[in-house]
Amino acid sequence: MSSSAEIRPDVFWVGARHPELEIFDELFPTRNGTTYNAYLVRGSEKIALIDTVKEMFTEEYLDKLQKIVPLADIDMVVVNHTEPDHTGALGRLLEINPEIEVWCTRPGENFLKQLFAQPMKTHVVSEGEEVSLGDRTLRFLLAPNLHWPDTMFTYLPEEQILFSCDAFGAHFCGDGLYKDQVEDFSYEFRYYFDTIMRPFKEKIREAVAKVEDLPLTMICPSHGPLLRREPLAAVRSYKDWAAAPPEGARKQVLMLTLSPHGNTRHMAASVRAGLEDAGAGVTEFTINELDDERVRDELERCDALLIATPTINHDAPPPVWRILSLLSSVTPRGKVGAVFGSFGWSGEAVKLVEERLRGLKYKLPLEGLSFRFRPTAENMVSCRKFGADFVQALEK
Ligand code: FEO
Repeated sequence: MSSSAEIRPDVFWVGARHPELEIFDELFPTRNGTTYNAYLVRGSEKIALIDTVKEMFTEEYLDKLQKIVPLADIDMVVVNHTEPDHTGALGRLLEINPEIEVWCTRPGENFLKQLFAQPMKTHVVSEGEEVSLGDRTLRFLLAPNLHWPDTMFTYLPEEQILFSCDAFGAHFCGDGLYKDQVEDFSYEFRYYFDTIMRPFKEKIREAVAKVEDLPLTMICPSHGPLLRREPLAAVRSYKDWAAAPPEGARKQVLMLTLSPHGNTRHMAASVRAGLEDAGAGVTEFTINELDDERVRDELERCDALLIATPTINHDAPPPVWRILSLLSSVTPRGKVGAVFGSFGWSGEAVKLVEERLRGLKYKLPLEGLSFRFRPTAENMVSCRKFGADFVQALEK
């Protein structure tokens, strides 16, 4: 068990370290675990907590708090975000001291009501609202969808510290508390952005605008090392990675193909000709040549997506489903798509992929196109028309 740390006078890290965690949330592999960062601010008149920890660390968290202040003296807990890795100890804390007031956003309050059966005193904050702790102040900056609708940041102006919730964090548990005390974790920092924050680029741009001009001596995220040297570097990274893609004069179509026998790629050649006839720019890849990061980059550069898939054993093959699994992890410029492909025995894949795209809120202006085995010359004419019609639909 780690001990608390006074990161500034009367400002304490009271979080938990989880270095043996191999997969965060059973979704994201980690090299050496993560941390659940939580903080205590002891003002001259009031004592505030900022977030709690994952439930399995509740006793450790309460023990850390009690070594600093009696639990009965705590006035408020700021819930920057209600996900259980940050509210896991809240129920027990409020059982011990039900007078603690929970400060959160309106969506946060709604989620808390659904997550906890016990009554709790809540205070819903507004953008820029401040609360005085005596000689310290907490200011609340709403940051919806970084990465849940409930999310907010808390700023401590007297120390120029931003408690940034999940934003600017990383699933990385180093030997030290601060970034400058641990080995390089830039891979984890970027991976965390790509897998957790990337679907919300517009919201990231809004949140970055709120903090990029704040006087900052430290960013204290909810996961990973604290950033006390050049904290704005993390903000600049998010600003760069979330930048809006430049608008081109021509519509850009990304075409991803999988073609074990060459027939679907044969169709793709005519579809591409039709796209280009109609004035679109086309970027074409064989699905297997792209890693996940490249797929995400290409998805965000294009205005529309064409998937060319065969049918194998009545289904689209796994590499196609891998592509589909990545669509919800990006901020695409446009959600317009179409599907085509060749088949041998049966042709379910095109319909199955269309259903998946519709489920992800993609618009499909054309009905999918499929032909059996090697497309005929007549089929190829249809493919070319399919490409041209797709661009016309895009332009509307
Ligand atoms: Fe670290 Fe969104 O919870």
